Amino acid sequence: VVVDKAGYKHFMLKEVNEQPTVSAYALAHYVDNETGLIRSEAEDVDFAQASRIVLVACGTAHYACHIAKYWFEKLARLPVEIDVASEFRYREPPLSKSDVAVFVSQSGETADTLAALRHAAPQVGHVVSVVNVTTSTIARESETVLPILAGPEIGVASTKAFTSQLVTLATLAILAARQRGRLSPDEERRLVRVLSEAPRHLAEAIAAAPEIEAAAREMAEARDVLYLGRGPFFPLALEGALKLKEISYIHAEGYASGELKHGPIALVDSSVPVVVLAPRDQLFDKTVSNMQEVMARGGRVILFTDSVGAQTASEGAARVVVMPTCDPFIAPIVYAVPAQLLAYYAAAFLGKDVDQPRNLAKSVTVE
Ligand code: G6P
Repeated sequence: VVVDKAGYKHFMLKEVNEQPTVSAYALAHYVDNETGLIRSEAEDVDFAQASRIVLVACGTAHYACHIAKYWFEKLARLPVEIDVASEFRYREPPLSKSDVAVFVSQSGETADTLAALRHAAPQVGHVVSVVNVTTSTIARESETVLPILAGPEIGVASTKAFTSQLVTLATLAILAARQRGRLSPDEERRLVRVLSEAPRHLAEAIAAAPEIEAAAREMAEARDVLYLGRGPFFPLALEGALKLKEISYIHAEGYASGELKHGPIALVDSSVPVVVLAPRDQLFDKTVSNMQEVMARGGRVILFTDSVGAQTASEGAARVVVMPTCDPFIAPIVYAVPAQLLAYYAAAFLGKDVDQPRNLAKSVTVE
């Protein structure tokens, strides 16, 4: 298969723009239209008896696991443990047959993730992989393979694979919740409907590209950038910071908003843009007070929120970019778009090699 840029300047931009389409492929695979419920290869996993789910991955896939943790815990009340693959086996974590181990990898060939799978397989109850390449080694060595169906991803920095991993992990969390008696069929149908809105909201978020680009151009002059978020937006902040580092080479750090006062606030002055990812949810007011702490020190807040959030919290922010209003369940999927596009436009503006950043490889097949 020859994959071209289809008129886009970079593969990364093309792949960001493909997200509404490819996330719908994952949904078509995991949603049974007749019943409105999830159907999945993972139906043979015994989540009812599982005592824990262990998620292992590297890079962007690792942050997808951290977002999924909120879903597994909240919906399925299933304890979650997450490791970066390079740490997992050397730590010799205690594992048992009541553990379900899930390995998330776009390529399915990442050496550390594969080694972690081989370390865990004899000890755990069930090995599941969430992969884009279903012919990969990680897929072949798993008992259950969950395809993310994102299509070939060429840009080294992962984008559409990330959101498709999230959609797939969300369906897995719903399935686990059902098996554990935590969801009635009606509640499951509601979550499935909400999840099915992700492609439309992803498209709406992409439509904000001009405003995101304007924010990114200002950010491109900075030496350091902070990303803040609460709940699942904390790992998304980590992912946004990773993206910016990877392709623009600007130093960035992601932090849980509430942790700001325990260190990173010392960095804040008028030269440090602070990106805040925060839809109007139960924690929003707390995030607003964190933003005020930043602004009081001259920090330039770039706020991504929904229209209600923008109405209540714009004062003092250097920039507010309005994101689509969506159910909290899928908001972290939708807000991946600004995290990706900020990095993309900053790197493109600086003339960096967006698709082939220095020192990085698409798939790291050595330890
Ligand atoms: C490399 C890539 C990242 C990717 C990570 C994990 O570091 O540059 O974009 O997230 O590997 O890759 P995987 O194929 O296992 O998801």
